[in-house]
Amino acid sequence: MKRHALHLSLGAAGIVALLAACAAQLAQHGADPAIRVGADDLGGVVTSARGPEAGVWVIAETQDLPTRFTKIVVTDERGRYVMPALPKANYEEWLNQLKTTGCMSCHAIGTKGMRTMPKDFAHMKSTEAWVRRIASGQAMTQMINVINRFDRDRVVADLADWTDRVAAGELPFVLDTNGNGKRDAYVEPKQPADPAKDTRIAANLYSVGFNPNDGSIWGTQLGFPGRVVRVAPGSDPTHTSLTEVFEPPFPGYGPRGGDIGRDGVYWASLASGHLGKFDRSQCKGPLNGPKATGKHCPEGWTLYRFPGPQFGNVRDDGSAEASYYTWVDQFNASAGEIRRGAIRRVTA
Ligand code: HEC
Repeated sequence: MKRHALHLSLGAAGIVALLAACAAQLAQHGADPAIRVGADDLGGVVTSARGPEAGVWVIAETQDLPTRFTKIVVTDERGRYVMPALPKANYEEWLNQLKTTGCMSCHAIGTKGMRTMPKDFAHMKSTEAWVRRIASGQAMTQMINVINRFDRDRVVADLADWTDRVAAGELPFVLDTNGNGKRDAYVEPKQPADPAKDTRIAANLYSVGFNPNDGSIWGTQLGFPGRVVRVAPGSDPTHTSLTEVFEPPFPGYGPRGGDIGRDGVYWASLASGHLGKFDRSQCKGPLNGPKATGKHCPEGWTLYRFPGPQFGNVRDDGSAEASYYTWVDQFNASAGEIRRGAIRRVTA
């Protein structure tokens, strides 16, 4: 078996940066007699200074075939891997430093079951409860192994702090759909509206910005049509914070990275090929109440088309040019000339 070119590639998600893997190597085939590697297989053992490495992604890739061909396997508990019966070609082998054994490789962490500490642990300190909790059930060995790869005490302290804050009422985004200007009991995102209650929304803020004029916090929510989110924390956020959401009007959609100016105007790169400007002070209708759920302020938006061409068979206004993120130069830090006229304003 010939030696294959070896690269270390960083996992995109980068949850577990396994520093020791820098020293990891692919041992040669046959290093472990238990692996039988045939003529059209690739196999071996991944080792580091600490010995065999379990759960490392090994990626074989070739451009020799009519389409790019990639095969990914994960090393077993003795660091071994085999890729059987590969089509004949020259392969490059990659080691991926992202171990598959981070918490999120098995389950999500933000779900209700996770963020609520069961009553059985009520007599313990939150940190102790977390340690006990992940030492439970069928997956306890894997969970303990994973947490021990981090700075364990620090992760446990963070998790405990998180569930403590949730238990104390720290809650996510609520629209004032009953329109009384206060945060009240609320219905869940998919439940029907209730005239007496507010409405919780499922939002995950990206590109968070702060409006120095009124203390509100802004961000984008990715997706279609996506929205810009404004949160006013109020004097006692757990009980007073209120959220507003603003969808870009068609033909604009899909906010990505955005930022706020010192004038409180929010700017966002839109997937539709526009730079979107949202000025809340231009809104004419009420900003709370049953209709204030996202489509209530198209007049606050201005769309500027990016200069690139539109896709050939798309008639809607927009551009194939993709901007991922827009920052506002709040303090005039960027020296030099701003080129004007490159982007064109369109009417929504
Ligand atoms: C190998 C897969 C795997 C990994 C990795 C893993 N978990 Fe788990 N986790 C499970 C399974 C399976 C259960 C359910 C266990 C049971 O009920 O028997 C569970 C249960 C839990 C629970 C209990 C939920 C409840 O009902 O109270 C918590 C909390 C938890 N995991 C947190 C974590 C954290 C934090 C990490 C990372 C340090 C992690 N898990 C890593 C598979 C995993």
